[in-house]
Amino acid sequence: MKKAATQTPPAETAGSAGASSPAPKLDLQRLAELERTHMLPSFIPLDEHAVRGPTILVRGKGVFVWDADGNEYLDSAAGIWNVNLGFGRTEIAEAVREQIERLSFHVNLLGLSTPPAIEFAAKLAALAPGELKRVLLTSGGSESNESVIRLSRLYFALQGKPAKTTAVARYFGYHGSTLGAASLTGIERFHRYFGPPALKVRHIAPPYRYRCELCRGADACTLACADELEKAIVAEGSDNVGFFIAEPVIGSGGVIPAPKEYWTRIRQICDRHDVLFVADEVITGGGRTGQMFGCEHWDVTPDIITCAKGISSGYLPLGAVLVHEKIYHAIFNGPSGLALWHGFTNTGHPTCCVAGLKTLEIIERERLVERARRMGERMFEGLRALEASPIVGDIRGQGLMAGIELVQDKQSRRPFALTAGVGKFLRQTAREMGLLVRLAGDIICLSPPLVISENEMDMLLGRLSAALAKTERWLAQHSFPAA
Ligand SMILES: Cc1ncc(COP(=O)(O)O)c(C=O)c1O
Repeated sequence: MKKAATQTPPAETAGSAGASSPAPKLDLQRLAELERTHMLPSFIPLDEHAVRGPTILVRGKGVFVWDADGNEYLDSAAGIWNVNLGFGRTEIAEAVREQIERLSFHVNLLGLSTPPAIEFAAKLAALAPGELKRVLLTSGGSESNESVIRLSRLYFALQGKPAKTTAVARYFGYHGSTLGAASLTGIERFHRYFGPPALKVRHIAPPYRYRCELCRGADACTLACADELEKAIVAEGSDNVGFFIAEPVIGSGGVIPAPKEYWTRIRQICDRHDVLFVADEVITGGGRTGQMFGCEHWDVTPDIITCAKGISSGYLPLGAVLVHEKIYHAIFNGPSGLALWHGFTNTGHPTCCVAGLKTLEIIERERLVERARRMGERMFEGLRALEASPIVGDIRGQGLMAGIELVQDKQSRRPFALTAGVGKFLRQTAREMGLLVRLAGDIICLSPPLVISENEMDMLLGRLSAALAKTERWLAQHSFPAA
């Protein structure tokens, strides 16, 4: 489908890589046909995808990407919460090319390592809070969270507490798609049809202020949701619970932040029951919330941080698990001959670590953490104008992460029936207006690259506001059943 083009960049300026390597001519019909025949598409109903087909993106620069028809989109999702530096950084491309020419691959296992893996781990450890100074490198968020499950088991087994294998996580939390990480995920559609989980997980309510059942009617959060953690641990038995995992700001589940006091209470509960506190910083690590790690907004430090996405800005796959020294010492002081029998071929892949190192260097050099804070303020200031919309129920978030929850009735907070497709209509309308947005149901999730300029932020807000207004007009012409 041909969309209304908003701007067509000259081929040689669209994406810095394009300057040195002319874009190959694309046979779009053939690509679409190959996609239809061979891809197993994720995170979209296959029937919907079969009708619409993919939007094929071919180029990116800064906060913009272009599709194969030359249409420009401002990417308000930064890829998928990850392209914090924006697209088309030549500096990273060059560093990666040099590493491939020097030593394209070797392991970070079995006593072998490479300079980029060591440098990257050390840099991440230097940025991490508290005593989280040991780093296990992975290729992404799911692998990082999967690693937590095994590290926690090993740690407690070495303490003589092998039964501590149950985890507590939160509804709406997303922790990945591998079996263990998906088991931790608290979103129903990741469980239906997938059979039993890999481990026992108790899910508790998150601090979802807008729809909180626990402190309904109270003026402020009562932290009853934090106390749910203690109830879950007691119900399961402290001797059986290994860790609690939570995102500092829930991302894919609809952008749900928590007050600082919530985390203090969580820390106290974990300490009381000898339960590891794991912060899943796959989205928030790398500056997005206005601190390098989301947990730096709190007065307490977790025992483990998992990260991915923003630490390599999507230039190459990379993830990490930052663990407290006590976990390292438990393994070090374990039975003679014990090794960490957990690792991957791509643990510390040198080329990916070069991309990660450059990413962290640029975040510091360009002061992008501060920028996320400043541009986040501008974003929320601008979003205030949307509060008057009859279908905007709640606007929330932190730094450069915002959730805009659409509702059918503002007074009662009644959501739209998902079958009404209101969010999807808005997403498609925004796309036709040159804005890529991401949804969690009918919640619009904004997470633009941290490099976004003032003008680009205003453009983002302008396009979003226009898409919202068109959605309101569309709704006025239809009647939908209540959810
Ligand atoms: C908070 C969080 N944890 C884990 C993951 C899984 O990461 P990956 O897709 O890199 O496996 C994601 C992905 O969106 C995420 O948002």
